[in-house]
Amino acid sequence: MDTGSAVPLWQYDERAKAGVDYKDASVAAEYDKQHGKFRDFEKDARAVMQLLDLKPDHTVIDLGCGTGAFVIPAARSCRKVYAVDISPAMLDRCQEKARAEGLDNIETHCAGFLSYKHNGDPVDAVVSVAALHHLPDFWKAVAFKRMYDMLKPGGKLYLFDIIFTFPVESYRSEFDSWVNGMRERAGQSMADESIVHIRDEYSTFDWVIDGMVERVGFKTEQKFSNFPRSLTYICTRPEGR
Ligand SMILES: C[S@@+](CC[C@H](N)C(=O)[O-])C[C@H]1O[C@@H](n2cnc3c(N)ncnc32)[C@H](O)[C@@H]1O
Repeated sequence: MDTGSAVPLWQYDERAKAGVDYKDASVAAEYDKQHGKFRDFEKDARAVMQLLDLKPDHTVIDLGCGTGAFVIPAARSCRKVYAVDISPAMLDRCQEKARAEGLDNIETHCAGFLSYKHNGDPVDAVVSVAALHHLPDFWKAVAFKRMYDMLKPGGKLYLFDIIFTFPVESYRSEFDSWVNGMRERAGQSMADESIVHIRDEYSTFDWVIDGMVERVGFKTEQKFSNFPRSLTYICTRPEGR
């Protein structure tokens, strides 16, 4: 799909900050502590590996991998993990954790959904957790097509993101209850981050995402919610395509 190496002037600049600035070293340093208030990284990663039926000889790409919430547990059980993120500070934290565990099967790339060039063989799975909403909708579709192309036929996509299912007229009460709920669960700084997410990032409706995954050729095997205002999609690149 990519047609050359020159970057066109109309290309979306995914390195520009949209919302929370994960390139900020202090944000990266605090990330695990802050997210640990409402997530169980190890348990969540095990659930993802089970849903994807990951095997010891499998290879996986994590796009928007952050500090390695999925990368580290996955590297303990899979052949190779490609850890891709646009933020050098988040990747540094991921690499520190990999070194601490002596994991040598993680290949890190400072790149994004729109710029990562996968030079290895097509992979068994692509994972992306809480990252795709950094792209405006048109570019999300481009990202889905790129993810599809990185997979083997039969390979699976695990997508988790903040994706809205409420009727559009309910947005005020939905957003207020999101911010208030986050304040109760994880404190004021995470509530402030939720405000930045709503205002400056690009979370969208599930019916938009449904259309995109279908149009690029994915088959949606499962779609469910196990976290407020979030959805998980398990999609396959059909065999023979
Ligand atoms: C909320 S964090 C999620 C990190 C990780 N997946 C997790 O589960 O903890 C969002 C991540 O997306 C990254 N990101 C933002 N825009 C991106 C892009 N265009 N391509 C790849 N990663 C991006 C940020 O640097 C950040 O690490």
